[in-house]
Amino acid sequence: MFLPPYLLKGTQAPFKKERGKSRISDQRRMLRSRRASQEIPRHVAIIMDGNGRWAQRHGLPRSEGHRRGMKRVREVIRAASDLKIAYLTLYAFSSENWKRPKEEVAFLMRTCEDMLSQEIAVLLKDGVRLRHLGRIDELPETLRRILGNAMDVTRGNQRLNLQLAFNYGGRQEVVDAVRRIAADVKAGRLDEKEIDERTVSGALYTADIPDPDLLVRTSGEMRISNFLLWQVCYAEIYVTKTCWPDFSKAELERAIRAFQDRQRRFGGLHG
Ligand code: FPP
Repeated sequence: MFLPPYLLKGTQAPFKKERGKSRISDQRRMLRSRRASQEIPRHVAIIMDGNGRWAQRHGLPRSEGHRRGMKRVREVIRAASDLKIAYLTLYAFSSENWKRPKEEVAFLMRTCEDMLSQEIAVLLKDGVRLRHLGRIDELPETLRRILGNAMDVTRGNQRLNLQLAFNYGGRQEVVDAVRRIAADVKAGRLDEKEIDERTVSGALYTADIPDPDLLVRTSGEMRISNFLLWQVCYAEIYVTKTCWPDFSKAELERAIRAFQDRQRRFGGLHG
């Protein structure tokens, strides 16, 4: 019987065939028990990509890809909460996305407004705390107000920390951090000789948020695309060919299983 190589990985003994149980699921169970860890990543960050390609493949306008993508955002937030992921960061609009046609930019702004307005009650009920990463002052006034309100009312929630990177750029974040640190030095609040990695981490938009353990990118591109440049230093990277509008809870679980198969050494040696 032909088995795909990923199912054979790490298998040594031949498997007995049992009636009613598939050989593949036995092998999957074996693989699971040999995982490097059972640990659920504390922080999962996702580059949601491929809405446009998904729409094109289905003969639909790009806006339909974004609309379908928004449904997946809702689903993945719920899945992350079920899986007890503590921090989920979603890259929804980069500082480079302003270069897109103005109709598409306006559509994405409206989509974000609609999603937040519609979801706020659910976020509150499900214990989700929303934070925004990026330059909020460059966003349209209505979106700023909706985002600000969503962050205020969910501040006390603790079940899932959801970061929405919207008008976010990793380099811009570093520039903003350098400006904050420089202002502190100039004002005499900070001695430049005391500046270390913690000072820089603490000046980023993600000051109170642990670094991502797992970085997921959909639609197959092998790029970081200006996302959390400082923070992904030791993140495990998982790329799937699935476009974001098809990214399901099962896909998220697959990414987590791949994470559990990795040996994280943080620059050291095996323990
Ligand atoms: C990437 O697909 C996706 C985006 C630029 C936007 C992400 C937006 C959503 C998932 C829906 C809205 C959600 C919120 C929270 C506003 P792409 O357009 O770059 O796809 P392509 O690379 O195939 O063209």
